[in-house]
Amino acid sequence: MRLVVLAPMAGFTHSPFRRLIRELGADWTWSELISSRMILTKGLEDPLLNFVPTERPIRIQIHGADPEDVFKAADQVLKHLRPDGLDLNAGCPAPKVIKTGAGAALLANLDRLYHVALALAEACKPYGILPSVKFRLGFKQDELERIAEVLLKAGIKILVLHARLAQEGYATKARWARIGHLKQMVGKDALVIGNGDVQKLTDIYQMFQDTGCDGVMIGRAALSRPWIFREYRLGRSIDFSLKDRICLLTRLWEHLRAERGPERAFKVLKLFVPKILKGVRGRKQLVSCLLRVKEPGLFWEQLKFYHENRSP
Ligand SMILES: Cc1cc2nc3c(=O)[nH]c(=O)nc-3n(C[C@H](O)[C@H](O)[C@H](O)COP(=O)(O)O)c2cc1C
Repeated sequence: MRLVVLAPMAGFTHSPFRRLIRELGADWTWSELISSRMILTKGLEDPLLNFVPTERPIRIQIHGADPEDVFKAADQVLKHLRPDGLDLNAGCPAPKVIKTGAGAALLANLDRLYHVALALAEACKPYGILPSVKFRLGFKQDELERIAEVLLKAGIKILVLHARLAQEGYATKARWARIGHLKQMVGKDALVIGNGDVQKLTDIYQMFQDTGCDGVMIGRAALSRPWIFREYRLGRSIDFSLKDRICLLTRLWEHLRAERGPERAFKVLKLFVPKILKGVRGRKQLVSCLLRVKEPGLFWEQLKFYHENRSP
C-alpha cells in the first residue's frame, strides 16, 4: 500500500480545505484534533467535526487522557458521524493539551497510553474501523520500540509516526530512519504512516524507499504547495503558475463560503494567502497588500490586477 495523506493541522485542515485536498488527489484526509471531553460536554455540533462526503476517506482525530472519555467520545463520533477512521493524538506538545495528560503527555506515561489506546481500539471494533494513533518518538527521549509495543498490544492497526521528540519542535530534522525501524518492527501487524519534513514530490518517493512505510503524511507542505498531492497522482512535478494558484485560492474560497458565509470565510482565506503564494515573484508586497484588503470583491480585483499587469 502506498498512501499519501493529509496531516491533521489545527486551524487549517477544516472541512473546506480538506475538500480541496481531496480534489487534488490525497488518499485520505484528517481532521484537526478535538478533545474527547469537549465532545462529551458539547456534543457533536462543533464545526471541527463537520465533514461532507467528498472529503472521504476521512479520519477524525481526538485527544484525551481518560480512557472512559475516549471510549465514549469515540463511540459517539462513530455512531452518529460515521467517519472512515478514528485517530488518537499522542504527539501534540501544546501546553493546553499536555497539562491535561493528553497529546504528547501520553508518551511520558505508557501505562496511560495503553489504556487510552485500548479504549479507542475497543470503541472502533463494533464499527469495523481500523483505529490509528499519531505519535512521536517519545516525549524527552526516543522510546519508539516501547511505545510501538504498547500500541500494538492495545490493538492499534495504523501507526502514524511524526519522527521527532515532543520536545523538539521543528528545530531538528525528522528522523526517517526511525520510521523504517518501526516498519521493520511491526511488519504486517500494522500499517505505518511516516511523517515529518516531506516538502516536495521526490521526498515522498524517498520516504517510501528509505523506510518501507505504507503511507506518507504531509503537513506544512500541504499548506504551501497543496498541488503536491496532484504531483504524486501524476507522477511528475508541476510548475504551478500564479494563475494556477489564483484558481486554487478561488476554489478554496468557494468551499469556505459554502460552509461559513462570506465574512468568516474571508478571514480564513487570508490565512492561506501567504502560504499558497510562497515562491511567487513579488510575493512580499502582494501578500501585504492583499492582507490589508477589507472586502472580498476588492481582494479578487487586486489579485487579478497584479496577475494581468506584472512584468513577464
Ligand atoms: C499549524 C499546525 C497545526 C497542527 N495541528 C496538529 C493537530 O491538530 N494534530 C496533530 O496530530 N498534529 C498537528 N500538527 C502536526 C502535523 O500534523 C505534522 O505532524 C507536523 O507538521 C510534521 O509534518 P510536516 O513536516 O509534514 O509538516 C500541526 C502542525 C502544524 C504546522
